Amino acid sequence: MRTAANQLYFGPHSAAQLCERYGTPLYVYEEEILRRQARELVGCFSYRPFRVHYAMKANFNPAILRILHEEGCGADTVSDLEVRLGLEVGMKPEEIIFTGDNSTDEEMLACHDQGVIVNAGSLSQLDRLGRLRPGARVSVRINPDVGAGHHSHCITGGPHTKFGIYHDLLPEILALVQRHRLALVGIHCHIGTGILDAAKFLEAMDITLGVARKVPGLEFVDFGGGLGIAYREEQQPLDLREFGARVSRHFEKFCGEYGKPLELKIEPGRFLVCQAGTLLARVNTLKDTPAHHFVGCDTGFNHLIRPMAYGSYHRIVNASRVEGPQRQSVLCGNICESGDVFTQSSEGIEDRLVSEFRAGDVVAILDAGAYGMSMSMQYNIRPRPPEVLVGQDGGLRVIRRRETYEDIMAGYV
Ligand SMILES: Cc1ncc(COP(=O)(O)O)c(C=O)c1O
Repeated sequence: MRTAANQLYFGPHSAAQLCERYGTPLYVYEEEILRRQARELVGCFSYRPFRVHYAMKANFNPAILRILHEEGCGADTVSDLEVRLGLEVGMKPEEIIFTGDNSTDEEMLACHDQGVIVNAGSLSQLDRLGRLRPGARVSVRINPDVGAGHHSHCITGGPHTKFGIYHDLLPEILALVQRHRLALVGIHCHIGTGILDAAKFLEAMDITLGVARKVPGLEFVDFGGGLGIAYREEQQPLDLREFGARVSRHFEKFCGEYGKPLELKIEPGRFLVCQAGTLLARVNTLKDTPAHHFVGCDTGFNHLIRPMAYGSYHRIVNASRVEGPQRQSVLCGNICESGDVFTQSSEGIEDRLVSEFRAGDVVAILDAGAYGMSMSMQYNIRPRPPEVLVGQDGGLRVIRRRETYEDIMAGYV
């Protein structure tokens, strides 16, 4: 977070200047942070061959995809249209992996037939792909019986989640591989999102490698995404250097025993884009009840659903007066739901001590680059905000224009 003259800045531009120019609400991204995150990540893993597949569900703006691709990232995709976008921004099929859940035959074929590896998350998917394309090169997603994440909705390993093929079903996997003469070239797992404790990740890695050990002919093992970032000031960030070194050492040892240097893949989404994005909005209403001081602004959960969906914490900054007299406040949006509050926890509404807001101030909701715009919606017929990229040279580029009423209505017949 950069400040000058008590204002929040993005490169050479103050939040207030950006809002004046593009209107509010507004998503702002910083190219420098995107590139920094990608380089830091790659630098922390010494093992080679190593490939980062950016999980584009976190943010699929093509301009962001292009920057991350320039930094050497391929894509982790979950729909045939995500695959299409990855190819359209210039990724090669082999740089993309498709991990669709409950995918239809048509969707799997659309990916497979363009040369993108299908990572089957169920025996049904593996069987259906095998029948349709005998001999196909495939990967399988294992549920390693271990899960982790910042909220129960975000845990994707263990017996209570719908994802992957349970690790003890390897005999059934191998039978299908044999029946359809498939080339099983990859083993994959992804245990959850927002992980700050490396122990769970390493535990899942061990179980996944236990499966991989029994599969001959592999080309890669993919340990998924999930690397968390510290949303709260007091949170301990993941020690990425230590994490990358441990994963690299562990994998190197495994490959020695396996008898071949396999490719190590990971699929981070949040880690790459989260801190690069900020949602700016304008405060227009101040209201008191016997319990709370409400600060109302012109965006809502329609543009950033994480606080409402998961009770997620985002730092809130008064971008117009970063330091100043503080006041316990509840930041709320303009959507017709009482859950439309940005300052909440899993228990519900929460007061937050922030620099006191006045009507007209710009509020910045930080760390909003991941699962912000990509999970946005048009509820209450409120168009999505524009997205602006602050380049490394300080230049500004609109990378998505503001939606209009006509955009929203375009599909209705
Ligand atoms: C299969 C898979 N890979 C990668 C990710 C990215 O997770 P994150 O953004 O936490 O890194 C997800 C997120 O849900 C996922 O489902």
